[in-house]
Amino acid sequence: MTNNTQLQAIASLSDAVAFSQVAPRAVPRRILMCPPTYFDVKDAKNEFMSGNIGAVDTGKAQAQWSELKSTFEKCGFPVELIEPGVDLEDMVFTANQVLPALDVDAHPVVVLGRMAYQSRTREVPHFEKWFAEQGYKVLHLPEVCKRFEGGGDGVWHPGRKLLWLGFGTRTGEPCCDALVNLLQVPVVKLRLVSAKFYHLDTCFAVLNADSVMIYPPAFDETGLSLIRNYFQNVVEVSEADANNFACNALALDDYVVIQKGSHATCSDLQRLGFKPVEVDTSEFMKSGGSVFCMKQMVY
Ligand code: ARG
Repeated sequence: MTNNTQLQAIASLSDAVAFSQVAPRAVPRRILMCPPTYFDVKDAKNEFMSGNIGAVDTGKAQAQWSELKSTFEKCGFPVELIEPGVDLEDMVFTANQVLPALDVDAHPVVVLGRMAYQSRTREVPHFEKWFAEQGYKVLHLPEVCKRFEGGGDGVWHPGRKLLWLGFGTRTGEPCCDALVNLLQVPVVKLRLVSAKFYHLDTCFAVLNADSVMIYPPAFDETGLSLIRNYFQNVVEVSEADANNFACNALALDDYVVIQKGSHATCSDLQRLGFKPVEVDTSEFMKSGGSVFCMKQMVY
């Protein structure tokens, strides 16, 4: 895309740009995680948290997190750690605080999030420091963007400088155009219509450049038409599997790391040539998060 401040996000099929017009993007091959030292459910920021306040088994959470970390490593992706901030109970969900990207010269940049809940805003400076120390240039969204939850709502198309952005639940709509201007990339807007599927990564998992896994009722018709326009294979997940966080899976090359128990989804993945790797994130699901939420892909 050209350097033009009038650029707008892609809101319908008539705005869609062809892949031939979208620059390629190197895929990050390291993963950033945060140990669950202070992990807890203290309030209900999403529907999954209701009824789970104070219900986390800390020992079990630590064991599940360690298993997830070694699963990522076995898939060939080294894991970096950020030190947990004292009493920041949601910091383990490293997908949310920022969005890493590459600028036009392929230099790594990071867009700072603006968390929807006050209790999470103190997480962001820890990530700002970590990314700055890694040599990333730190970018700030304009004031009009009151809420932006990083890689929970912003998901890169595999291998392309095309950003899928969920808005309407946590992230606000003004972020769509703001990110086009800040990153100079096309941004496809996806309105999230279900309070339960409150982040894009709870209902949309990119598998590779041609394949995606979605929970259709979380989107409106325009969103579904945009998804079907860009992906040849759209795996539709059942309500039961969506509630089991199937769409919060993480594709690492041919592996798809996924919460255990979504049998129908795993069969669909195998049929497309993927290798599902089942893990147990039950303690984190009490907080509304699973595999994808507990990592950030970094350059
Ligand atoms: N308790 C956290 C929250 O509601 C969970 C975040 C899960 N992260 C995600 N990327 N979906 O903010």
